Amino acid sequence: MNNKKTILITGANRGIGLALTKTALLKKFFVIACYRNDDSKHDLYSLECNTLQIVKADVTEEVSLKKMAESINTNIDFLVCNAGVNNGYGSFDSSDHSIEKMLDVFNVNVIGSILTVRNLINKMSEGSNIIFISSIMGVQKHEGSRATIYRASKAALNNVMISISNDLRVKGISVTAFHPGWVKTDMGGPNANLTVQESAASLIHNFLNLNMDNTGYLFNYDGSKMDF
Ligand SMILES: NC(=O)c1ccc[n+]([C@@H]2O[C@H](COP(=O)([O-])OP(=O)(O)OC[C@H]3O[C@@H](n4cnc5c(N)ncnc54)[C@H](OP(=O)(O)O)[C@@H]3O)[C@@H](O)[C@H]2O)c1
Repeated sequence: MNNKKTILITGANRGIGLALTKTALLKKFFVIACYRNDDSKHDLYSLECNTLQIVKADVTEEVSLKKMAESINTNIDFLVCNAGVNNGYGSFDSSDHSIEKMLDVFNVNVIGSILTVRNLINKMSEGSNIIFISSIMGVQKHEGSRATIYRASKAALNNVMISISNDLRVKGISVTAFHPGWVKTDMGGPNANLTVQESAASLIHNFLNLNMDNTGYLFNYDGSKMDF
């Protein structure tokens, strides 16, 4: 058992998930960092320390999630469903929107987030927090076109957040979604205006302010509430 706050992060081997892992370690959390692919776990393993548990978990595979859950023997204070894919920014009629690619985006971003919560809910208790890393692109009023399926997946994720927050209110578990900002990662690209460190530092700061008064909301990375 550990006496630190425990945070579990999916998709923690690169991008925002890796930066959240590094920031949480600096902030003295016990961190459970998940990766799905043995070929891309190196950056996580370079952080090895006694407050970091590294676990394999593909959020689209229930067997993988069950195995991951079995390896956890502590209460989870913060569950961060960060794993996500965007198969492309093309328009709805482009090759980015083949049936296979569209199903993959929904499978990871929406169903994967539900499966993650479903397999870890028994590790959470009153005062725990579930955080979905969503996107401003899922906001209905957000201007612009393209990335049709990615936008739809994040809009669906925001809706999932609402229904799970209603389900878990009685247990005293807060459920929120966060837009991490436009962040320089493989997904965000080099022209994004935030570094992973800036996004992660602000996110962790705001996770620590969560409670039952703000369950069911979508937040920007800076802690301000966003419309759906
Ligand atoms: N970057 C931005 O500007 C931005 C803006 C808004 C929202 N977001 C959201 O922020 C989150 C993180 O994005 P990012 O920019 O850090 O993306 P990224 O650099 O592309 O990293 C995505 C992470 O998700 C993991 N992942 C993908 N499919 C998975 C699966 N089936 N099971 C487990 N892990 C899986 C990846 O693992 P592998 O290495 O194995 O592929 C990787 O660790 C995503 O949900 C994204 O939609 C990002």
